[in-house]
Amino acid sequence: MAVLIINGSPRKDGNTAFFINRIREEIPCDVTDAYYADFRACGDCRSCVNGACVHNDDASRLFENIESYDTIIMASPLYFNQPTGMLMALMSRTQIFFNGKKKLREKTGYIILTGGGDTVINSADAEKTMRIMLMGLNVKVKGYVRSLRTSHIPAEKDNEAIKQLERIIEDIKNDRA
Ligand SMILES: Cc1cc2nc3c(=O)[nH]c(=O)nc-3n(C[C@H](O)[C@H](O)[C@H](O)COP(=O)(O)O)c2cc1C
Repeated sequence: MAVLIINGSPRKDGNTAFFINRIREEIPCDVTDAYYADFRACGDCRSCVNGACVHNDDASRLFENIESYDTIIMASPLYFNQPTGMLMALMSRTQIFFNGKKKLREKTGYIILTGGGDTVINSADAEKTMRIMLMGLNVKVKGYVRSLRTSHIPAEKDNEAIKQLERIIEDIKNDRA
């Protein structure tokens, strides 16, 4: 049961990182940081219609290996009520599966969202976008962590979100057992 976390936050000690680190304390995971990976966004050149992406970078390596994972956790702060642009740029490279019509095996997934909460009070738009991005990897979303008032309650003090995270950790451990 291999687990991959795709992280859309640039902040190494931020709110999203808090949840990611909690998971990593309990479960062995690979982590891809969209902000620190070296990759180009999909340019819709359509080479992948014939099976091959023109790029050879960290995103190529990530998606070449995607079938080795059983569980994918996507984590991001809200930026303008959406997951971060860097996360979306990274996920744009999943066009290779869409255009290449490659059938991926089904995986389970989870979504972690953090938001400052000063302007946006719900994460529905971002969740929908993240579900669509995960759908491109044939991931069925089983659970959520939402910490949406981090300007007032940082993730590490958000007990409700920590409870949601603990349920997910248990869920993954049970799947691994
Ligand atoms: C460019 C930018 C846009 C943001 N837009 C939103 C937003 O639309 N809604 C919201 O609740 N928080 C917004 N925030 C606040 C972050 O989502 C919040 O601080 C989050 O907890 C940061 O997570 P991190 O510490 O893991 O990076 C924004 C922050 C930045 C830098």
